[in-house]
Amino acid sequence: MKAITGLIGRDALIETVAREARKGHHLLLTGPVGIGKSAVLDAALDRLLLRQQRTVITIGDHQPKAQFVDLARTLLAVGLLDPLTLELPEHYQDLPPELIEWAKIRRHVNRLSMRDLTAAIIPALHDHHGQVLIAVDDLTHLTPTLAAFWLAVFEVAQVIGCARQKKANVSKLWWKMTEIDIPPLTPEATREIVQTYIAKQGMLIEAPGLFVGHVVKQSGGNPQAIADMLDDSSKERRVDKRKIRGLRHAAGVRYLDFTPVLIVALAAVVGARYLAIGTGDTELYIFAGMLAAVVISIRVFLFRGAGKAN
Ligand SMILES: Nc1ncnc2c1ncn2[C@@H]1O[C@H](COP(=O)(O)OP(=O)(O)O)[C@@H](O)[C@H]1O
Ligand SMILES: [Mg+2]
Repeated sequence: MKAITGLIGRDALIETVAREARKGHHLLLTGPVGIGKSAVLDAALDRLLLRQQRTVITIGDHQPKAQFVDLARTLLAVGLLDPLTLELPEHYQDLPPELIEWAKIRRHVNRLSMRDLTAAIIPALHDHHGQVLIAVDDLTHLTPTLAAFWLAVFEVAQVIGCARQKKANVSKLWWKMTEIDIPPLTPEATREIVQTYIAKQGMLIEAPGLFVGHVVKQSGGNPQAIADMLDDSSKERRVDKRKIRGLRHAAGVRYLDFTPVLIVALAAVVGARYLAIGTGDTELYIFAGMLAAVVISIRVFLFRGAGKAN
């Protein structure tokens, strides 16, 4: 959606993030999925880069250990990391950083332990203290062990990250970060997005006022929700009133947690099976078997749907 409409309604927030970052704080952008954390982070980094001569390292990976591999890879590529510290063969030391082929060393670096990785990364960052800004898109899934490694990074580089929630078991990390909560977009900004999108995509809408109002209400100002509804509607040749009224934030359904329902269903299946065996009821036994099949297949679809949400 951003590619079509541009980033709307976040100027003041981006300025706040950039200003806090210039003070040298570690920052944490928080908010639910789709609220625009990554978009605001990107824009703030662009703004920072305009004014500063610093190396910005962007880590897109969401998997905690892969983030450190990513960090090592980038430091290596910009020439801030000595290949020998990653236990690479000696001839790598004479190679200019841009000639190091990641494909050839990836497996080796992946196999290093977290301890070995940090033993290479921390001193390299230390030698260039104040020069590197690390932007890590998702710190949501950190474990306490990984958080300890991040704390070491915090001592030698500035970090800006995003997280959907601040898990209590890594609160030591959050204490070191200035939190900036990303709020929902205002109704005005949402309206502007919808109107720009309609104009750019040339959408045909029976009642534009009703349509805009519906998106504002149903999305609650969540940009991803707005995007889902707009993309969904733009598939129609013409969006009529019936379609508008049926407009729901699909994500609301997609992000629903079905786990309790599944547990109850599974318990029912197991219970029915024992009852059938105990009473010798063949029909109930068959029925429980069929129910089990249904529950298992539904589970597969649900998890496939849930995967899409991220
Ligand atoms: N202010 C905005 N204007 C237009 N599009 C936006 C805005 N904020 C976010 N988006 C778009 O909405 C989607 C979700 O935003 P994203 O930054 O990925 O959310 P998060 O990182 O919080 O999950 C992305 O496709 C992004 O480009
Ligand atoms: Mg994101």
